[in-house]
Amino acid sequence: MEKVGILVVSYGSRGAAIVDAFSRSENYVAEIYVADKQRNPFNVEKAKRHVVIPDLNVEEICKFAKRHEDSIDFGIVGPEKPIIDGLRDAVEEETNIPMICPTKRYALEGSKVAQRYLFQKVTPEVNPLFKIFDPKDYSSVGEVRKKVYAWLDELDNKVAVKPDSPAAGKGVGVWGDHFNTREQLFEHFLANYEHGLVIIEEKIEGEESSFQAFCDGKYLVPLPETRDYKRAFDEDKGPNTGGMGSYKDVGDLLPFMTKADREKEIEIMEKIFKELKGKGSNPELRGIPFYDAFIHTGKGPKILEKNSRPGDPEIQNLLPIMKEDFVDVCYKILDGNLTRVEFEEKATVVTYKVPPNYGGYINAFPERVDRGDMDKPVDLSEARRLSEKYGDKIRVYPASMELRDGKTYALKSRAVCVVGVADDIQRARDLSLEGIKAIKGGALWHRTDIASKEHIERSVRHMEKLRML
Ligand code: GLY
Repeated sequence: MEKVGILVVSYGSRGAAIVDAFSRSENYVAEIYVADKQRNPFNVEKAKRHVVIPDLNVEEICKFAKRHEDSIDFGIVGPEKPIIDGLRDAVEEETNIPMICPTKRYALEGSKVAQRYLFQKVTPEVNPLFKIFDPKDYSSVGEVRKKVYAWLDELDNKVAVKPDSPAAGKGVGVWGDHFNTREQLFEHFLANYEHGLVIIEEKIEGEESSFQAFCDGKYLVPLPETRDYKRAFDEDKGPNTGGMGSYKDVGDLLPFMTKADREKEIEIMEKIFKELKGKGSNPELRGIPFYDAFIHTGKGPKILEKNSRPGDPEIQNLLPIMKEDFVDVCYKILDGNLTRVEFEEKATVVTYKVPPNYGGYINAFPERVDRGDMDKPVDLSEARRLSEKYGDKIRVYPASMELRDGKTYALKSRAVCVVGVADDIQRARDLSLEGIKAIKGGALWHRTDIASKEHIERSVRHMEKLRML
């Protein structure tokens, strides 16, 4: 079999899922070179070479790529930071390794303000009302407060506050979810405003979905829809997180979406793609330049935000059930001839297990945390055994964990996810939870309502109500 050398820039279980997809190739012997945020036990086991670069800085990743240039055929990037920092530009300039991710110019995830202007130009009907607050425009806190409150008057306080840069200050805050008074809102606003531009936009009522697409620069290939669970605690309570879990239904739609919703999303994304691409092909866009959060209202989808990378955990819903060999898909992306990708007719559910400090759990529910368990290693062996038992219908992907002296320890962020694959969402959920419950140690916890029947039915009823208004 033909050998292929692949550079994977990895952060968390998304990276492990990518490594897994390559190592399962039936058409190639994949030799994987992983530049990782930590000693991820899964990646360490699968990689031909593994290097830890804790801040995933471009210079160090480039050096690693350069060292193995002769053995690497292409590279792919999971996390946003190196993409925004121009990793593709640097690796392609310094080596002959083509990279699968957008160039710095098209890493639109770097600025939410630039995204809003782009949507306003191309698809204004799906852009929420918004205003940008630029520290350069105001000479005092009192002055900007007056303008913010005037905008809140116009939107009846129902707003979302978003920093321009990813995760600057306190990140996104939403009226009614993260704050209930103007004073709280303004405090959140200021925490971000200290770092730069802030957007205050109309809060949209509806149900969220995640749209992802592969792109070879010429074609956009939409992937099936997924639903992310951003809030830390059950019933969508608590602070926003990177995502506590996600689900995908059999087929391309989610249970609360109509075919028309999906068609509209694709139409919107095609318009944005054309605007960015211009005439012909634009290889600078290749990778997953579109991972966009939509919110479905009674009158169709609105766009919440745009990312230039695969979603975590949303890509974990898709890679395990992709019919094509992932190496072939990557070669087609590089050749500019990826026109479609097929998926098995399966549902998937991802549940994350996370440490006690994540999402402020230990403060919100101190009585639930077994403190004696907190520093203990995490035992993945039983979950892996289940994976074998169920013939890979359970996939265990470590995230913010590291190997130390042959044992696995959870670090600070999301620790490990389990993907369940089945003929319907509830069976996929049962498998995901069976795997999650088999993981012991580290006082890890998880949301118990990811893809639950009740949660999904609530979304369906919510959309029915909104569509009747
Ligand atoms: N699921 C959220 C993210 O990947 O940003």
